[in-house]
Amino acid sequence: MPNHWMPKTQGQPLVWSSKAASKPRAFKPATLALLLQVASLAGVIGIIWLSQFVAQQFFNAALTFSMWSLCFLQAALSASLAVVFKQAHWWRWIHFAFPFAVVVMLQWQIPNELYLISFIVTASLFWTTFRTQVPFYPSWPAVWHEVVKLIPMQPSTKLIDIGSGLGDMSMYVAKSRPNCQAEGIEIAPLPWLVSQVRARLKRSTARFQLGNYNELNFADYDIVFAYLSPAVMQALWQKAHLEMRPNSLLISLEFEIKDWPPSFIITPKDGSPKLYVWRMP
Ligand SMILES: C[S@@+](CC[C@H](N)C(=O)[O-])C[C@H]1O[C@@H](n2cnc3c(N)ncnc32)[C@H](O)[C@@H]1O
Repeated sequence: MPNHWMPKTQGQPLVWSSKAASKPRAFKPATLALLLQVASLAGVIGIIWLSQFVAQQFFNAALTFSMWSLCFLQAALSASLAVVFKQAHWWRWIHFAFPFAVVVMLQWQIPNELYLISFIVTASLFWTTFRTQVPFYPSWPAVWHEVVKLIPMQPSTKLIDIGSGLGDMSMYVAKSRPNCQAEGIEIAPLPWLVSQVRARLKRSTARFQLGNYNELNFADYDIVFAYLSPAVMQALWQKAHLEMRPNSLLISLEFEIKDWPPSFIITPKDGSPKLYVWRMP
């Protein structure tokens, strides 16, 4: 395991530049997406009104639109606005599919109770995604296996999965390495509850807490594992760099940290997302 790494930009102060600090606060992606859909709807209504006016005035004809053509108009307009407002590329597809999904769902006449249940389940799973910009999606066994290989043999090594979801990663570590104290912290209530119940049922020694990893002191851990999102990686690095002890490991599945090359990279499976590992200086 390489142990000689020095970050390329080590020595730079870990503060945001005053330029960045004075930037006006941007909308959260979901808020912007909602505003773009509303703006597109206003645009569609405007286009309908204008074309009907022109048809009536100049051709003395009544213009009608099919539901699907209106859907397409809304889809194209909102996806284009997503490009203009520089939303992440997946938002363009979400914008495009959204109006079609609404029409299809309305035609299926799904009972209202089902909407309510789906809303409650989705809200509990993705409760905080709006704020954290980190949705829930689980890691997988090949990843856990590689993480276990990085855990030193000495007893009382402490590992934490920050954003532990359903808890699989920490429970796997606890089972494979009884010498390691495996923990998880999760901000969304439903996944946290599921991880708690599963740990009890499996008699796992892994411990899970409900909370925000930003409130932890990373100095308490030898290994911090993160499977989060690009939106939080820079802030995570700042926290890790300030708090983590020398020689401890920060491991990020899939997401790199701009300007901070990892000490080494592991590919759990050909073609799968990589594990980026930073050994703290
Ligand atoms: C991509 S999932 C990863 C789940 C799990 N670590 C795994 O490997 O299967 C990210 C999780 O982080 C949680 N999360 C996001 N921000 C968080 C925060 N600030 N504190 C604690 N959990 C957070 C989300 O609710 C989500 O469940």
